[in-house]
Amino acid sequence: MKKVKVGIVGLGRLGCQHAENIAFRIPNCELTAVCSVVEDEVKEVQEKWGIPYSYTNYDEMLKNKELDAIFIASPSGFHCEQITKALQAGFHVFSEKPLGLYLEEALEVQKVVDAHLDKVFMLGFMRRYDKSYAAAKQKIDNGDIGDPILIRCYGLDPASQMDNFLKFAKANYSGGLFLDMSIHDLDLARWYMATEAQEVWAIGGGYARPEFEEIQDAETGVAMVRFENNAIGIFVAGRNCAHGYHIETEIIGTKGSIRIGTLPERNQIVLLQENGAVKECYDGFLERFEQAYLSEVEEFINCILEKRKPAVTVQDGVESTKLGYACKKSFETRQLVNLQD
Ligand code: NAI
Repeated sequence: MKKVKVGIVGLGRLGCQHAENIAFRIPNCELTAVCSVVEDEVKEVQEKWGIPYSYTNYDEMLKNKELDAIFIASPSGFHCEQITKALQAGFHVFSEKPLGLYLEEALEVQKVVDAHLDKVFMLGFMRRYDKSYAAAKQKIDNGDIGDPILIRCYGLDPASQMDNFLKFAKANYSGGLFLDMSIHDLDLARWYMATEAQEVWAIGGGYARPEFEEIQDAETGVAMVRFENNAIGIFVAGRNCAHGYHIETEIIGTKGSIRIGTLPERNQIVLLQENGAVKECYDGFLERFEQAYLSEVEEFINCILEKRKPAVTVQDGVESTKLGYACKKSFETRQLVNLQD
């Protein structure tokens, strides 16, 4: 059986997890090249896992014609440029979210993807591949809750990571709370409600850490969205969750509702001692979405081998960026933003 040879760029928090999955957990692909701007990082991964090629220059990796696909897990500001270069060099491409930090660059990259329809392009909206989120989609499509009319999402990062984030945000612009974090929820809302956003109002602040305001970002915020079909979206995002990593979604329909992840329980254990009954929570995205990160990459590789397209398209990237950007604009201007303007 042919194996898809993959080169990955970005070996940070998520890139390393993807690299390990590609190298060891997916039988029909091989991790053939690794790339990052930090030489020690690249050498460490190359030596630890015996990867044939390593690069500190992305353009050099694209000259390696042994590769079939490029996997992008670099900071968000590089995605559009790296997607464009990889497609133009003849590779299939997987890119981490978000597609772009600005609508203009997302629209430009969409043109490049559309000009390379013989290549598989996939975006890392891994929640669609999480078993619970996928089961919820099936139930909605089956009509189990009637017509979905409201979606309420919590996307909360652990407070323990806030210092790291502030360091990360200063060095690499993430797009801000809504484009960086709520983007998954915005994509889920479009997917579940089968409609696009019409208007949005977003507010937030730096409550526990005023430094967020210095970088024009919110530590905790909320966006309220009216969709074209009049459905409602409430998107809470934050980086100061004391109990850990909390991703919760509720979809209310005309005949019922679905909740996913109401309590972010890490396992089945209840610890009973002098503090009472304690259930531990997830401590981060790698733990909560371990299965989804693997399943999305399996799908990408299978799409290449079976010559089919993934369900997550560049259009999903453009629309979620459009909405995320509108949330950011509303937060910054304190105005209601109409996406049709
Ligand atoms: P990170 O900062 O931990 O790692 C970034 C990596 O890219 C590092 O290896 C760094 O050396 C490398 N790098 C930086 N500039 C580069 C360049 N110009 N060319 C090549 N390599 C470069 O970042 P993290 O947290 O792993 O995030 C990476 C991307 O993944 C971001 O776009 C982020 O939005 C996305 N992400 C997605 C998540 C999801 O749930 N789908 C969760 C976390 C991150």
